[in-house]
Amino acid sequence: ARAAQSTFVCQSCGATYGRWQGKCESCGGWNTIAEESVAATGVGGAPVKSSSRSKGRTFALAGLDGVNDQAPRTETQVGELDRVFGGGLVKGSVILIGGDPGIGKSTLLIQASARLARMGHRVVYISGEEAVGQVRLRADRLGLTASPVELAAETNVEDIVATLSEGPVPRLVVIDSIQTMWTDKVESAPGTVSQVRSAAQVLIRFAKKSGAAVILVGHVTKDGQIAGPRVVEHMVDAVMSFEGEGGHHFRILRAVKNRFGPTDEIGVFEMTGKGLREVPNPSELFLAGRDLGAPGTAVFAGMEGTRPVLVEIQALVAPSTLGTPRRAVVGWDPARLSMVLAVLDAHCGVRLGSHDVYLNVAGGLRIAEPAADLAVAAALVSSLTGAVLPADSVYFGEVSLSGAVRPVAQAAARLKEAKKLGFTKAVVPDVARGEPSEPGLATQAVTGLSTLVADIAA
Ligand code: TYD
Ligand code: MG
Repeated sequence: ARAAQSTFVCQSCGATYGRWQGKCESCGGWNTIAEESVAATGVGGAPVKSSSRSKGRTFALAGLDGVNDQAPRTETQVGELDRVFGGGLVKGSVILIGGDPGIGKSTLLIQASARLARMGHRVVYISGEEAVGQVRLRADRLGLTASPVELAAETNVEDIVATLSEGPVPRLVVIDSIQTMWTDKVESAPGTVSQVRSAAQVLIRFAKKSGAAVILVGHVTKDGQIAGPRVVEHMVDAVMSFEGEGGHHFRILRAVKNRFGPTDEIGVFEMTGKGLREVPNPSELFLAGRDLGAPGTAVFAGMEGTRPVLVEIQALVAPSTLGTPRRAVVGWDPARLSMVLAVLDAHCGVRLGSHDVYLNVAGGLRIAEPAADLAVAAALVSSLTGAVLPADSVYFGEVSLSGAVRPVAQAAARLKEAKKLGFTKAVVPDVARGEPSEPGLATQAVTGLSTLVADIAA
């Protein structure tokens, strides 16, 4: 046997080098490269035996038994979780759920496991971080003790696969967390890139072979990236992130990648003393505690996947004492803010070039839609002029570089949600071209951003 070799692996992105260096050329990280010894068998582990391969066989796209089953899904009965998965757990799929330590990943997954197990499915929860007693104590606190989830405190993936292979195929296996797992094949410590990657490989192979769905939990670092587990992102079927703002009780589950469903759906939860509670109507939550009399806030009627979500956009502008004024954005794209500021300046005479600008999306939501442009512009102008926007109005519309306000998708769903939550007016792009309207909700169409600015200032 050959001696183990050393490689130098970036712990942040997984790039490998022949020797140590201070900066990773691949991701630009400093001091992220660490020495890892890899056993001579290689990172990939044992190759698939050729006899077990279906050599050279092809399958028709449709019409074969067992192949044309549409991805069989099992609902976990946690609606907000199933929504993000795309309608439930797909057989043999592997999902990575990342999030800050303490955000509630273990809580979410023990709750989902318990629901699934109660329906008679075999569910195995493997904890590499807590002893079985601790997991049980948590389940106890959540009122889940009676649920037949199988618990194990194991960290060696070969042992885990052996355990899982006894008895019926589990419907779900939770690995909490992938950073604590290790395989015999690799000599480096658990949590290093080679261990995480190789351990994940073993578990993924098990999922594909057995048909069990496997959820890997991964902790993230402060810079918001799933370090270590990031290297398995391309190996798994779906990557989700579980997020929350410090101080808030909301938690948002978001799909970053999903082979079996959409990536724009979010699941919303609230952390309570008795675990995570599903929030089927997030608008109410995001609008709670709104400061109605203050300038600088506008309600945006947004869409998160198929679900309309109303959220408050808060802006604060103030004359700057700095040579380069501050632009601080939470929950939105800073480049998009720069664009809206430029359009306000060029087409509406709103000059914020020597003002500090702060923009915040309330409740810890992150918005990616250009449809928020109009609400952002309204909040900025309101803050600058001190004119309070009507509390019963919502805004949506995309602003183009020419200053025009352009229509956005799913206007009807946005209007409907606004009506449902008691709003009476919507400031929207020109809806003349046959856009549906919502009875009981007045719409004011603006074709240009300058019209809106003049309206607010008047
Ligand atoms: P946990 O699920 O352990 O987080 P993670 O697995 O992502 O590290 O959640 C831990 C936090 O959640 C902890 O700060 C306590 C809080 N919590 C509650 O508020 N209510 C509960 O019912 C539970 C179980 C935890
Ligand atoms: Mg945990």
